[in-house]
Amino acid sequence: MQDLIDKIDKQKLPRHIAIIMDGNGRWAEEKGEDRLFGHFHGVASVRNIIEGSAELGIEYLTLYAFSTENWDRPQQEVDGLMSLLVDTIRKEISVLNKNNIKLHVIGDMQMLPEFAKEALQEALEMTSQNTGLNLIMALSYSSRWELENAVKNIAFDIEAGKIKASDINQNTLPQYLTTSNFPDPELMIRTSGEYRISNFLLYQLAYAELYFTNTRWPDFRKENLYEAILDFQGRERRFGKTGRQIQATEEPSS
Ligand code: IPE
Ligand code: IPE
Ligand code: MG
Repeated sequence: MQDLIDKIDKQKLPRHIAIIMDGNGRWAEEKGEDRLFGHFHGVASVRNIIEGSAELGIEYLTLYAFSTENWDRPQQEVDGLMSLLVDTIRKEISVLNKNNIKLHVIGDMQMLPEFAKEALQEALEMTSQNTGLNLIMALSYSSRWELENAVKNIAFDIEAGKIKASDINQNTLPQYLTTSNFPDPELMIRTSGEYRISNFLLYQLAYAELYFTNTRWPDFRKENLYEAILDFQGRERRFGKTGRQIQATEEPSS
């Protein structure tokens, strides 16, 4: 694993990595177990990836843990996931504090059961002074929910005279998104072999590099994260320009 870490250029780390943690259910079913068994084992990966990101010095890590669409899963699975979430948060607060990790949550919190809201609130408060890795949990999150709210709030602010419609520009919408305090992800990872975005950060991923792996989330560990970062570092990010233009700006001036 150390050889992988050594290969990573620490000056060119993505500031923000976003991960769609997928494949818990299939991982469990392939072992003849209940889907919740997969979610339970997925927590070990969450811990490992948070630790790996913090060690590398990644500034922002967003983990897609539960989508607004996931509320439509069988009640038993939803209930199991909520209990797991609360148990994990309670257990991990001290570890987050020990590692100077600040927790954030994005999503439709109103949908969460009361006991989950309380646990989250407590964790947010208890880690609010930390200055290291920003851990952003996307919970009951979807981009369409987020965009609907953003547009509504812009309209309210226009009605209230706080902003003028004619002043809206490309900086306006991002300020109304749940991610207004974070830079856009530069690297988006999805595990378990699905090639889709599933309503995750549609606006914010505009120029993210996408990395897909067949590894199921419960098997995903630091070395898999390092491989994704190395792959990212091997790419040329052109932002609409030509490769030659990009190379010209990267050449050291002499
Ligand atoms: C991701 O794993 C976790 C959540 C969506 C909560 P899944 O539960 O989607 O696992 P698969 O995709 O069915 O294998
Ligand atoms: C996306 O995974 C949401 C999370 C990982 C939390 P899903 O498993 O719900 O996505 P689809 O349904 O396969 O697109
Ligand atoms: Mg899935």
